Amino acid sequence: MGNGILSYLKGGSWVSGEEMANSQGISRAAVWKQIQALRAKGYYIESSTNKGYRLVREPDLLDAGALRQALKTKVVGRDIYYYPEVGSTNDTARKLAWSCDDGTVVVAETQREGKGRLSRSWYSPPGGLWISVILKPRIALAQAYRINMAASVAVARTLSFLYGIKATIKWPNDILVNDRKICGILMEISAEVDRIDYAIVGIGLNANVAAKNFPTDWKAISLLEELGSKVSRTDLAQSLLEELENAYLSIGSKENYEDWCRLSATLGKRVRIASHDGDLEGLAESLSEDGALMLRLPGETRRILAGDCIHLSLSEQRPDQDQSSNHV
Ligand code: BTN
Repeated sequence: MGNGILSYLKGGSWVSGEEMANSQGISRAAVWKQIQALRAKGYYIESSTNKGYRLVREPDLLDAGALRQALKTKVVGRDIYYYPEVGSTNDTARKLAWSCDDGTVVVAETQREGKGRLSRSWYSPPGGLWISVILKPRIALAQAYRINMAASVAVARTLSFLYGIKATIKWPNDILVNDRKICGILMEISAEVDRIDYAIVGIGLNANVAAKNFPTDWKAISLLEELGSKVSRTDLAQSLLEELENAYLSIGSKENYEDWCRLSATLGKRVRIASHDGDLEGLAESLSEDGALMLRLPGETRRILAGDCIHLSLSEQRPDQDQSSNHV
């Protein structure tokens, strides 16, 4: 179906079925069919026997065509696969990964089985930005943290650039706004020791969703809640992919590392790290250039390369901890 009648309705005033039928050279029954098809796509169209039809609300869909046209990138988003619904954009990306180009993007309006870190599920209703980018950097597996760093600074820079939001990064790569999680990043990798075949960077950004009610273990927030109005997810995806490209093309740079430290919400806080070695509680002393969290424990500083990080409030800290150098 073309969207001939849509251009009539876009003005927002009442348009009679007869006028649209005549101008398109189609029957009024065909107009009715097109109206029904638009409604099925999420357009809210009022109808009245006397006045005809009126477009009240357009669906909040990501416009992949407009995104492709607007993108000013060389690598990231050269190919974009858009789906109304998938299981997980990371899983769809994995199926493409061997044969696709560096920078290929998979984006979906909703995910049935969105995946989070540490085998958690990721709630992905319509209105969020659920996107995976396949990257093929020429780096060794031991440097894979650089991809995480690039992705998290790209998200924070996007939120600052587009909306003036001061986003921070909870180690290793959760993006927070006012101490609530607005975005999570799940990186999956296929590699040999000295070469990464591909990395799938899955970014889940709570855009136009009611995140405060999300069934999550953490406190979530969305752009809608922070800004008080909906954002254009097409513009958001465009800026995000452009920032990701900048950070990716300068992967391993001082600038990425320095921003990652500057934007850290974890540095200086008392934290609990859940890792396969058990739970560790200490002070997040510094972040090393290779992505590790340097955790001060009684008598030693431990290098933590992976794990789940929880920022502790005073009441959550173990009584045996030294609380003199406390968190911000
Ligand atoms: C986290 O646990 O914080 C990471 C969440 C990552 C979610 C995104 S949404 C797009 C991509 N597809 C997935 O299934 N997960 C990632």
